[in-house]
Amino acid sequence: MSVAEEAMSDQSAVMRVLRGQAAVKPPVWLMRQAGRYLPEYRELRARASSFLDFCYDPRLASEATMQPVRRFGFDAAILFSDILVVPDALGVSVSFENGEGPRLAPVDTWERLLALKKEIDLSYLSPVFETISTVRAMLSGGTALIGFCGAPWTVASYMVAGRGSPDHASARLLAYRQPALFRDLVERLIEASIAYLGAQFEAGVDAVQIFDSWAGVLPPREFERWCFDPLRRIIAGVRRARPQAPIIAFARGAGGHLPRLAEASGADAIGLDTTIDLDFAAARVQSVKPVQGNLDPLALVAGGAALEAAVDDILAKLGRGPLIFNLGHGILPETPIGHVEQMIRRLRAS
Ligand code: CP3
Repeated sequence: MSVAEEAMSDQSAVMRVLRGQAAVKPPVWLMRQAGRYLPEYRELRARASSFLDFCYDPRLASEATMQPVRRFGFDAAILFSDILVVPDALGVSVSFENGEGPRLAPVDTWERLLALKKEIDLSYLSPVFETISTVRAMLSGGTALIGFCGAPWTVASYMVAGRGSPDHASARLLAYRQPALFRDLVERLIEASIAYLGAQFEAGVDAVQIFDSWAGVLPPREFERWCFDPLRRIIAGVRRARPQAPIIAFARGAGGHLPRLAEASGADAIGLDTTIDLDFAAARVQSVKPVQGNLDPLALVAGGAALEAAVDDILAKLGRGPLIFNLGHGILPETPIGHVEQMIRRLRAS
């Protein structure tokens, strides 16, 4: 990053926290902030034939990215896309059934794995990079643009099962029964993620977040192999070309592994899910790296005194150190907009 670029990105509160500075009032954005809880999103979504067509239409995707920033004045925009564009660009057929979540052609045998593209086809994802440059040009310097990818374990769990599942048993069983096959899939995803995140920085994102949404289902030995090690290697890989690249690691359910992620993964900030004890987070995670989180999405649905108490707890325990205020997981479609406004008022008044 040039000195001029660095000075520019330092205008954004999110970037300052990512560099380790505590803010008087923590900057805020919400995971999945572009989504069905917004009427303007539902209207935009109805204009695309499928969810992936929506993601690959730079005009629609840039508008979806901007909507929550315009409405709420969040301190960061997150690229509107999905973690499953990576398998799509590896040649897996991906679709989203209405209301039922993603469907993929399962990759659970050597034959199916070897039929994939050897490397991610970045030209296939050119609409995503166009969305990034369009949004970057629309945002003021004070608002950070965050890119993202799914972590290999989380993406692999969808690829192996061909869909979401509560316990991720298909991927866990494949990793036990055919470790060489699962290893090969994860290696491909590590390389694909390094290339994809690098191209997102090239197109104009200020920081990226790696979502390991299903890290919490693995026993420690498996966590080390399939979550920690791939995360560390993606971060190191991205930094080979961009030594300063700001990276947030969100390993949902990682609990007691978070201090190690903060100390040894190379991430600049650690995402906290809803279940993390705030004293533990302050003493063992935020003492090492800035943190992001961790309001319960259901407290935001509930609103009222429960919401205010939950916001106040986070500010009391984590607000004096480097903190990016966020949810502990994605915003729920039934979230009332008035409660998001209430949350912001409470944060700004703090
Ligand atoms: O606003 C943002 O945060 C940016 C966009 C974003 C989406 N998905 C849009 C989306 C991001 C960052 C994601 C990440 C993602 N996608 C994750 C990791 C984060 C997490 O929530 O755990 C995962 C596991 C996925 C996979 C995925 N995409 C699922 C399981 C589903 C179906 C469930 C659902 O919420 O409907 C999706 C679809 C999806 N991705 C939607 C959105 C706005 C909803 C589809 C629609 O609007 O029709």
